[in-house]
Amino acid sequence: MCGIVGFTGKRAALPLLLSGLSALEYRGYDSAGVALAAERLVTVKSAGRLSCLQQKLKGGVWGQTCGIGHTRWATHGAPVDHNAHPHATPRLAMVHNGIIENYAELTAALCEQGCVFRSETDTESAAWLLDGIYGENHDPVQAIFKTIKQLRGSFAFGVIFADRPGEIYAVRRDSPLIVAQAEEGSFLASDVPALLAHTKAYYRPDEGVVCRLSAQGVCFFDDEGKEVAQRLETVDWSVEQARKDGFEHFMIKEIYEEPQALQRTVQHYLKKGLPRFQNPMLDGDALASFKRVILVACGTAMHAGLVGAYRIEKMARVPARVEIASEFRYADPVLGTGDLMILLSQSGETADTLAALRHAKAQGVPTLAIVNVVGSSVAREADHVLYTPAGPEIAVASTKAYSVQCAVLELIAIRMAMAKGRMDAHRARGLCVQLADHVPAEVLATLELSDRIRTLAVALTDAQHLFYIGRDLDCALCTEGSLKLKEISYIHSEAYAAGELKHGAISLIERDTPVVALMTVPHVAEKMISAIREVRSRGARVILFITRDLAERYEIPFDDCVQLPVSSTGQTVFGAATALQLLAYHVAAARGLDVDKPRNLAKSVTVE
Ligand code: G6P
Repeated sequence: MCGIVGFTGKRAALPLLLSGLSALEYRGYDSAGVALAAERLVTVKSAGRLSCLQQKLKGGVWGQTCGIGHTRWATHGAPVDHNAHPHATPRLAMVHNGIIENYAELTAALCEQGCVFRSETDTESAAWLLDGIYGENHDPVQAIFKTIKQLRGSFAFGVIFADRPGEIYAVRRDSPLIVAQAEEGSFLASDVPALLAHTKAYYRPDEGVVCRLSAQGVCFFDDEGKEVAQRLETVDWSVEQARKDGFEHFMIKEIYEEPQALQRTVQHYLKKGLPRFQNPMLDGDALASFKRVILVACGTAMHAGLVGAYRIEKMARVPARVEIASEFRYADPVLGTGDLMILLSQSGETADTLAALRHAKAQGVPTLAIVNVVGSSVAREADHVLYTPAGPEIAVASTKAYSVQCAVLELIAIRMAMAKGRMDAHRARGLCVQLADHVPAEVLATLELSDRIRTLAVALTDAQHLFYIGRDLDCALCTEGSLKLKEISYIHSEAYAAGELKHGAISLIERDTPVVALMTVPHVAEKMISAIREVRSRGARVILFITRDLAERYEIPFDDCVQLPVSSTGQTVFGAATALQLLAYHVAAARGLDVDKPRNLAKSVTVE
């Protein structure tokens, strides 16, 4: 949700800013801009993708060694040139990620003082406010502290001042921001991929610490103006991992990374064949004391929660429910002793998930985060954290992160079942072996179906809307399959519990309505067959995704069928998820869409 970058050092800043923005374009891509500092500040911005900005910059001589840049996901004001960042005032240029909630009152007051606004953004109010305060005594650190005291909402700011060429100032609240010192100079960014080509070591400044970047390095200041130390972190991702590596899109590359990501994740949390989290709460008896698990997340991560809830209830017999993070906090949920809250997030920066985490903590509920990005806000604030070593996920549509989140939840469910005395070590070891060895192999075998799935996908490119139906665990999987399809192919789809369809939505089924039927759960197989018959007899075209053993056991009517190279167990979910991800990918690719950057979306949603 908006990417910000900055560079100051010994080289021309522009190429570095542009390559940083390109690595962050997944955060938003409706407009982009840069501001460069030398004797004066120059700002260039453009609606559209980064390529439009590059076009605008072509032919210019851009020798400045200090600058900031931004790629936008519009919240306030349409994605047009004048709303793109940076926002310039006579004294400064500013880039912002987040939302200034009191911008309307600030704007009114600032306009009254004579400030001339050129955009409809919330950000410009912060730029003008800082401009005025900075004008009082030209102390950037003090001016930034004074300014942010008057702001409500979330922000990560990068600022350059006209009278301080060579320096960049930055500060954050509830929005991600990292800074780093490398050979070439000092960098500022919203996220690690923008820095990977230059350094793997970075600082994630604490909230309310002002950072000053110069060619000489990075310093941090507290609100009394005293220099403070921040912890240096390192990332083990490589530049190659953040590249497409010959694949047409990041999304398909990331789907192909699933077998390895799963293997890495499961091995990471196994010791002597059993789940081991190096965490006193999860490894000890405390796990047995929980009476309820609440899984909270957004989007795809929330769908992983649905799978986890099934597995926790099934194996540990502990009630588990899933909450949409944006609803959780405002629903005034009943929380109490015996509750464990699990937060799932790829980025660890999703504003709603973070808000839900804070709400639960304030109520004294123990919180456990399952997060992909090391050191992210959710990871830092939760009582306990388990990382999913999936590597960077760049495509906006989440794939491998979902699979590894499901894997970690599976391990938690097994561990909880053991702690509750519901599962002996022998059975647990069997499930863990299956998860560590068979599941990655099954996902690999599913990837070999890619061409077959592509053929089916081509036939769906003109569909207006379609259904995903399943029962039990398949029902949870269908929600994710359906989301994947709609977010990248723009085809409307609905996930339905197969048994519920006849209570209303079946009225939408007409001749040739495509219905993806998922069948991997043996004890509801016959019920699924009835649902398939019901939709087929109303003209639906059924595309059946079914496990090998169920296909052998039952006579099932269908129009197209993909036999999943997996056998029906609770862990079938991994191969099946991969197959549905491939279907969505191939439909979107066959429609010629920008698969990695679907319209209106952003990978990391850092505003509520
Ligand atoms: C955005 C992305 C989704 C993602 C969701 C939650 O909406 O487009 O793909 O699932 O945020 O993100 P998180 O980083 O918390 O998993």
